[in-house]
Amino acid sequence: MERKEALTLLKEHVKTDRVFRHSLAVEAAMVAYAMKFGEDENYWGLLGLLHDIDFEKYPEEHPNRSPEILEAANFDETFIASILSHGSTSKIPRDSKERQCLHAVDEMASFIIAIALMRPTKLEGLTSKSVKKKMKDKAFAKAVNREELTASAEALGVEFSDHVDTIVNGLIAHEAKLQKEGYSLLD
Ligand SMILES: [Fe+2]
Ligand SMILES: [Fe+2]
Repeated sequence: MERKEALTLLKEHVKTDRVFRHSLAVEAAMVAYAMKFGEDENYWGLLGLLHDIDFEKYPEEHPNRSPEILEAANFDETFIASILSHGSTSKIPRDSKERQCLHAVDEMASFIIAIALMRPTKLEGLTSKSVKKKMKDKAFAKAVNREELTASAEALGVEFSDHVDTIVNGLIAHEAKLQKEGYSLLD
């Protein structure tokens, strides 16, 4: 599927700004990692873009209701299994790079955006050092499980500072592209 089509599909199922932006942020991070690992950028980007597609309609069952949406849109079994694998209750093992990556960038991308929104220069100049500092600040983004942020990066086999840098740079690059399409991760 082409990205444009996937965006249309996403908009059919995701109506809130919060989940829509989160999907774009995870897309950005997945594309950045696809480039880093020499993988298919479109495919990895679509995994990011569509990973929470059933969340608004079925928050309790998410992501286990995504197959019905994705099958109807002709996604193959492997793609659908990769989406399922990011769920905390999933029985699908995170046994490939894209699955480990999706898990590692899911919360991290939005955590980074939350930090950027508080800075005058937003994502520009945001270092892994300040991200780590915010992770120690228990009052900030309380719902985000810090241990999972670090453990998932470890499972992906990347050093945590590099992980943050890859995502920050990916978000910056994607923001430029999104603005041309009339979207933003940051406003
Ligand atoms: Fe999710
Ligand atoms: Fe997510």
